[in-house]
This record gives sequence, structure tokens and C-alpha cells, in this order.
Amino acid sequence: MGKSDKAERAKERREKRLQEISLLRTIPYSDHQRWWSAETVAVVTGGNRGIGFEISRQLAAQGVTVILTSRDHSVGLEAAKVFQEGGLNVFFHQLDVLDTLSINEFCDWLKQNYGGLDILINNAAVNFNQGSDNSVEYASQVITTNYYGIKNMIQAMIPLMKHSAPGGRIVNVSSRLGRINGKRNKLEDANLREKLSNIDTLTEEMIDQTVSTFLQQVQEGTWESGGWPKTFTDYSVSKLAVNTYTRLMARIFSERPEGEKIYINCYCPGWVKTAMTGYAGNISAEDGADTAVWLALLPDQAVTGKFFAERREISF
Ligand SMILES: NC(=O)c1ccc[n+]([C@@H]2O[C@H](COP(=O)([O-])OP(=O)(O)OC[C@H]3O[C@@H](n4cnc5c(N)ncnc54)[C@H](OP(=O)(O)O)[C@@H]3O)[C@@H](O)[C@H]2O)c1
Repeated sequence: MGKSDKAERAKERREKRLQEISLLRTIPYSDHQRWWSAETVAVVTGGNRGIGFEISRQLAAQGVTVILTSRDHSVGLEAAKVFQEGGLNVFFHQLDVLDTLSINEFCDWLKQNYGGLDILINNAAVNFNQGSDNSVEYASQVITTNYYGIKNMIQAMIPLMKHSAPGGRIVNVSSRLGRINGKRNKLEDANLREKLSNIDTLTEEMIDQTVSTFLQQVQEGTWESGGWPKTFTDYSVSKLAVNTYTRLMARIFSERPEGEKIYINCYCPGWVKTAMTGYAGNISAEDGADTAVWLALLPDQAVTGKFFAERREISF
């Protein structure tokens, strides 16, 4: 089969799956499946536009109370207003995932006004490359926002996660570009791949060390021969860290007692028409948001530490 035939087949498969999913989205959850109510609180980072905006809309449309956060006050307020005018329970609070003061203020506000949260959607991220670019000019900002931003939020939100039988839910918006063992774009160092894949021995220090080695090589100008993913290198390293951290946190959370469980998963939204891709993606933000909402509301709460795309588990 030629390259263009393969691409054509892949496109057909993707379109078929997206059609199936839009159909699935029209099927209402039964009362039995609905573990949530208007008292259920979901926090979405980077909710002012793109996939985060859509995730906020879809979660609120299911009856969850959504706290739409944005680092820019007026833009976030405006976004929440759009939803409120449509009758949805969406409320705004400023949040910059890299600003400790902003995170602390948000935590105080959330605790005081809502008593905590049930669902955290870590959506905020940056990418500075498009098409065939592969600049690492902003590598530090990319790694800091996409990886450390998620870590900041998870660590800040853990004490605020409400205790409940269905468990707290965390969804990390990630990318297939960050697969450790994907066919393309993987780390060349098999030992490092093995180390990051071994969930029993994985530590936070190993992940931090991997991203800091990358950033050090960027600073020294040696990253190109460092065996890092070849496409959107800084972004791919950041998402590889997110995926690995998701698995690590699932292991750590599994030790929490019944009634205090937190389930954490990550997913790839696909190539989505948003500002991040210069609107060049092949799917809408609505479709890109779907798996996040599906995962956050899963009636079967035992799913944790997995990676998904189009409502199906995929490999790390
Ligand atoms: N689009 C795709 O094809 C694609 C593919 C795979 C994965 N993803 C992932 O999907 C998620 C959403 O991306 P998108 O496509 O919707 O991109 P987007 O339109 O660029 O939205 C990114 C959001 O993140 C926010 N953000 C950036 N830095 C932040 C910070 N320090 N604190 C708080 N918010 C911050 C942005 O806020 P501002 O408006 O203030 O900049 C914006 O709301 C990201 O995790 C991305 O990596 C996207």
C-alpha cells in the first residue's frame, strides 16, 4: 500500500470513529449512570478558548457546575458570561497555572465558595511550533507550562478534592506526540524509555530529571543530537512528561483509602482546529473535547492511569 493510500485509509477510519462518537454524544446518560449533580464541581484550566472552552461547555451541559479559569481576567469573564447567558452553570475565576500567588488565591476562593472540587481538567498548555517548524526558542516556557503547570495544579488541588464514593477525577489533556513507545517520534534512548515505562520503579525525580536534561541541552545547544523526539521536540518532551506523571500519580493515588480515591487519566484530543494549530487541525474543538468529558464523567470509576484517544485506550 502506498503512502497516500495509507493516509486515505487513516482519514476514513478517523472520520468513521468521529461519526460514531458524535452519535454516542447524543445518547443521554441514564439516571443510574449519573453519579454527578449540580453540586459536582469541575475546574477547567485554560477554559477561555479552544478545547478548554468546549470541555467547559460540554461538562456544564451535562449538569456539572464548571469553574472556568483563565489567566486573563476579562477574557475568562467574557467566556463564562457566554455560557451563563445560555443557562449553564459556568463561573469564572482567574488562574495562571505558573503563578503561585494566583494558584493560592484560587484555592482559597474555591474552598470558601464551593468547599472544593470533584473534577480537575488540566487543559492549559502552550506550543510555539507549527507545520514543519521545530524551534526550541521557547522550550523552557513549553516545559514549564505544560508539565510543571499540571504538577502545580494537581498538588494544589489534592487537598481540595471532595471525598466521595465515585472518587475525584483528574483528566490531563496530553498528546500522542508524547508517547514513550509510539512508532514515530519516540526517545532514542531505549534505557530511558524502559526507565520511564516501568511503573513499579518510576519516580517523580526521574521525570523531572528527563525534562531538565532536555532543557540543559537546549541551553548548551546540544539537544539536536540528544535523541529526543524529532517532531515539535519541546512540546513532545513536555507531553511525554505529562503522560508519565499521569501514570505515576495513578499509582500514588491507588494507595488512598476507599471514599477518598482520585482517578487520573490522560488523553490526546487529536489534531484540533484551535489557535494552537493555527486552526489547521482536522477536527473541531467540540470533537477534541469529547474524550475529556467522557473520561471525567465515566460511571466506572475504576479506570485510572490510562491514556485515551477517541474514547478508546491507547498505549503509552
Ligand atoms: N489543538 C490541538 O491539535 C491539540 C493536539 C493535542 C493536544 N492538545 C492539547 O489540548 C490542550 C488545549 O489546547 P488548544 O488546542 O485548545 O490550545 P489553545 O487554544 O492555544 O488554548 C490553550 C489554553 O491554555 C491557556 N494557557 C496557556 N498558558 C497558561 C497558563 N500559564 N495559565 C493558565 N492558562 C494558560 C491559554 O490561555 P491564553 O488564552 O491566556 O493564552 C489557552 O486558554 C492543550 O493541553 C494542548 O496541548 C491540542
